Amino acid sequence: MRHFLDIHKTRVSDLRSILDQAGQMKSCRTGRFRGALDDVQPLDGSMVALIFEKPSTRTRMSFDIGVRQMGGQTMVLSGNDLHLGHGETIADTARVLSRYVDMIMVRTFDESVLLEMVDYATVPVINGLTNRTHPCQIMADIMTYEEHRGSISGKKVVWAGDGNNVCASYLHAALAFGFDFVFSGPVELSPEEEFVELLLSNGGRYIVNDDLKTAVIGADLVVSDTWVSMHDDQSSKERRHNLLRSFQVNEEIIAHANSEVLFMHCLPAHRGEEVTSGVMDGPHSVIWDEAENRLHVQKAIMRWCLGQ
Ligand code: CP
Ligand code: NVA
Repeated sequence: MRHFLDIHKTRVSDLRSILDQAGQMKSCRTGRFRGALDDVQPLDGSMVALIFEKPSTRTRMSFDIGVRQMGGQTMVLSGNDLHLGHGETIADTARVLSRYVDMIMVRTFDESVLLEMVDYATVPVINGLTNRTHPCQIMADIMTYEEHRGSISGKKVVWAGDGNNVCASYLHAALAFGFDFVFSGPVELSPEEEFVELLLSNGGRYIVNDDLKTAVIGADLVVSDTWVSMHDDQSSKERRHNLLRSFQVNEEIIAHANSEVLFMHCLPAHRGEEVTSGVMDGPHSVIWDEAENRLHVQKAIMRWCLGQ
């Protein structure tokens, strides 16, 4: 049984084959074939449950469309539609869903919900974001970087802002794909120690620099994300904004990086907060390719989960 739970829980050779397959599948999808069914229909007759306990635009659309392009069908469910963790145990829901569907993608709050589903599901489970990590996003980011600039190995990636769930999956990816990772954010919002340790104890490069202007010198990729994540207490918004204000990615910051630097953001973005419109819509930004690649890479992740 193959689950896609996190980048550090997946073999590097498998991550590579997922990226290769995503690239191949993407290359068939241009012009009027963009929204068409794939020539091969690896999910023909399959049913995939997409469970969202948090809002989503990209993950919802890209998984749903990806399944359909591959010939499968989906059921998109919100946490309120199910008795997930209320009314019955997560384990019981996982056992029952496994009798109906061929794969489950879940976006949830606490990672324990995902892990309990995995323990009791008899079909593959995919992590569509938890409070701790967002691995599908970072697979799309790696794909996007390499499409534009070639191998990410040995490159300098700078994370600007909150050491959140997306940042955590970057730490995992730094180990798997061999890039240097610089965290530039307030110490109070540093990434989880466990993930930093994992990177450092395996010989990865992790650098902290709370001066974003100097942190980005020589950067090949600059990444930012919202200052208040969906799981964050909304009453902490003002405090978080005060802590994070000096980590905004703006044109001046980008000017300090490599001339070929790319900018990424998982979206949704708050223009004028963590990033300016000038950067989002500017020449270094690849955010729309990044969003598109969610579709291609997740199709490859689903095929990998099904042993294809
Ligand atoms: N980046 C991302 O996961 O976007 P959604 O929250 O819209 O799914
Ligand atoms: N860090 C953000 C990512 C959204 C895709 C959140 O968890 O809300």
